[in-house]
Amino acid sequence: METTDTHSEPDKLNINAPGRPVEKECNNVNQDTDCKNSATDVNINEKCSGEVEGGGTKDMDPEQAYAEGKISKKQLKRLRREEAWRKKKEFLKTKRKEQRRLEAQKRKEKGEPNKKRLRLEFEKRLETSDITISVDLSFDDLMMEQDIKKLMKQIERCYAVNKRAPVPVQMHLSSLGGRCRHRMETAIAGWQGWKVGMDSDLYTEVFERERIVYLTSDSPNTLSTLEPGKVYIIGGLVDHNSHKGLCYQRACEAGVGHAQLPIAQFVKIQSRKVLAVNHVFEIMLAYLELQDWQEAFLRVIPPRKGVEAITADQAGEVVTEIEKGEEPPNKGGPAVGEGNSALLDRDS
Ligand SMILES: C[S@@+](CC[C@H](N)C(=O)[O-])C[C@H]1O[C@@H](n2cnc3c(N)ncnc32)[C@H](O)[C@@H]1O
Repeated sequence: METTDTHSEPDKLNINAPGRPVEKECNNVNQDTDCKNSATDVNINEKCSGEVEGGGTKDMDPEQAYAEGKISKKQLKRLRREEAWRKKKEFLKTKRKEQRRLEAQKRKEKGEPNKKRLRLEFEKRLETSDITISVDLSFDDLMMEQDIKKLMKQIERCYAVNKRAPVPVQMHLSSLGGRCRHRMETAIAGWQGWKVGMDSDLYTEVFERERIVYLTSDSPNTLSTLEPGKVYIIGGLVDHNSHKGLCYQRACEAGVGHAQLPIAQFVKIQSRKVLAVNHVFEIMLAYLELQDWQEAFLRVIPPRKGVEAITADQAGEVVTEIEKGEEPPNKGGPAVGEGNSALLDRDS
């Protein structure tokens, strides 16, 4: 399974060729049923140019067409809405272009490399990376629309951080489909050019089982390091704690290794140790860069979680607690993490 280029080009995705927005024309505004798209459900290339029976009104001013009785009031209103929407899009496009120009100018003034050079440097760093992080997107049907949006924002953030990371990872998305895929195609600019592997299949169909470590805060195993060749799976789930233990359960059912991040060994946090997808991803990148879990946690975990470093003595106590801790329910998976030298402790 390649996790770069090959999967990032839409035509080469394992998923069905994504439904690219196509330039559609809807020329008949006399028949409402033929041209119902509103600004919210139409794609941006779609246009309704206002041709009416009797001909001659294609691209004509809707106000004039209305004044001449060639279109109804309802049609006029819709055309006005579409026009306003087109103008807004154009305005935003120009604004973004200007922003990019200013950023490029600033980078130049500071002597920083331009975007093209940054991209080439990233691609070069990526060539030597042999750790994969795959986000498991098989929870699509368990999330509300707003959580799908949040999740895809988190994934966008993961990609942006990976691009800048001194030690990037091979990023991958598995079970990409449904609303996540739709959101990706419609709301994430430039996703087609991402250096990210994408598959519609479950991660177990994509990677060899022995390489897989499912990350879950409910695992009794704790990571001590990140191993080359391994594939770390992050559950693509924004659930506000409503599906407690689900990822652990799924990992056990799939019969793959699993582990939690060594949070308690290095930092104290006031709130739950269940982190968001992008925080887990960023912690791993920070660890690869710094080779120090404590620094990685302190850098990434948001201060609102009340994060504090702990001393080596305290860390010792915490490990003992974990070893004595209650055994979490094992949902029938095999002995997980067997022979995995990257696990600090294993009590199941
Ligand atoms: C918001 S959490 C999902 C919580 C979900 N209820 C569950 O069953 O894990 C998103 C993902 O981040 C990863 N994650 C969060 N906190 C973690 C931790 N302390 N250790 C390891 N992975 C963690 C897991 O892969 C998890 O599926």
